[in-house]
Amino acid sequence: MKTLITGGTVVNSEGEYRADVLVEGGRIVTVGLDLSPDGAEVVDASGAFVIPGGIDVHTHFQMPFGGTVSCERFDTGTKAAATGGTTMVVDFALQAPGDSLMKTYADWRSMADGHVVVDYGLHMAITELNDDTLAEIPLLVDEGVASLKLFMAYKGSIMVDDATLLRALRKGKECGALVCVHAENGDVIDVLVGEHLAAGKTAPKYHLTTRPAAAEGEATGRAIVLAEIAEAPIYIVHVSCTRAVDEIRAARDRGQAVYGETCPQYLALSVDNFDVPGFEGAKFICSPPLRDKSNWPGLWTGIRTGDLSVVASDHAAFNYAGQKEMGLTEGFHKVPNGCPGVEHRLLILHTLGVVGGEIDMPKLVDVFSSAPARLFGLYPQKGVIAPGSDADVVVFDPSVEAVISAATQMQNVDYTPYEGMRVNGAVRTVLSKGAVVLADGRWVGKEGAGRYVKGKPFVV
Ligand code: URP
Ligand code: ZN
Ligand code: ZN
Repeated sequence: MKTLITGGTVVNSEGEYRADVLVEGGRIVTVGLDLSPDGAEVVDASGAFVIPGGIDVHTHFQMPFGGTVSCERFDTGTKAAATGGTTMVVDFALQAPGDSLMKTYADWRSMADGHVVVDYGLHMAITELNDDTLAEIPLLVDEGVASLKLFMAYKGSIMVDDATLLRALRKGKECGALVCVHAENGDVIDVLVGEHLAAGKTAPKYHLTTRPAAAEGEATGRAIVLAEIAEAPIYIVHVSCTRAVDEIRAARDRGQAVYGETCPQYLALSVDNFDVPGFEGAKFICSPPLRDKSNWPGLWTGIRTGDLSVVASDHAAFNYAGQKEMGLTEGFHKVPNGCPGVEHRLLILHTLGVVGGEIDMPKLVDVFSSAPARLFGLYPQKGVIAPGSDADVVVFDPSVEAVISAATQMQNVDYTPYEGMRVNGAVRTVLSKGAVVLADGRWVGKEGAGRYVKGKPFVV
């Protein structure tokens, strides 16, 4: 089947220009001016941007976490992603106590295969590193899991110590697996949580004061030092504050291979969101926590300079009813951490970034699609509108005005932290490997049509 996308402005990370895009056999065949339809189905993109489908390298679908399981499934999550212009997710397979890494990998494949509506890949979140699990890392890389995540926070459950992180960094370097780190000082947070609870400070807003920016800055700096000692590249996930950006910038200025990721919630939301009645602040509990608005300019500067290469969603969806409410009796520390957002990443980046005058469209495409594709071994199969690449293409109309609401979202969760936010733009049409999955805003995709895509080993 042939499709011709006509009359739009093609945007890649290098620039934007007027061109039509011809798609056949799941791939982009030609990008050029005034292409002839020649029997192709025509998608009118006039007045719109034609961009590579987003790649969200930070999702947590069906993840057992915090005493519950995240409520977004692989079918609903990839459908929500595609509706919002994201045509590939890279989800975190999370090692359960006692499980091997290969079992964890197989478990995540069986949860996703046959259910995803667009392509997906996997990272491995390692919670127990010993000689056996270390030996599995090269096997994972052979399977296309070329990135690992380790947690410096969540003491008593999935946190690892510095020795473990150092060993993982060394092994990752040896096998081409990029180590991703959740950088917050878990020991410090544990002390602060204990003190808050002893003082009867149990409301959701106390999540903020138990996880200060200094604890994120310190852990970011420490992770970077460990990577320096291991002579390994490192990727810092969900950077929320300027303290952490400063550490990343300083290391990059020294020539170290350090990459940073931030998320829409740290650009659009703040501590002020906790000024809500009752227990509703729990909807905004994520880690690292939302910060003071004074961090926003530093995050945008980090995006512009490339110190923050990626904007990913960290989509960790827990219903307010019955899941976020798990903290009602004992306090904020029992609330599962995470916010939904896989559907709204493009709209928020366009509204606050491009319309807000912080970045241009090529930079948006870079942090939304191209840079994640490069860092996680998917480029140029994904992340670019070019002949030979997968036809994962989004037609985005920047002129539409809309309001984000749980009532109209595809995400399988009972709220959105962006409720009522006015946004500029609408995803008109989405192609996943040449097949139209969203046609003029209407869902026409198929469950099970997505495939597992291997990430290539990371080379600095
Ligand atoms: O609060 C968050 N971010 N929850 C998901 C797990 C993680 O730390 O990424
Ligand atoms: Zn994390
Ligand atoms: Zn996460």
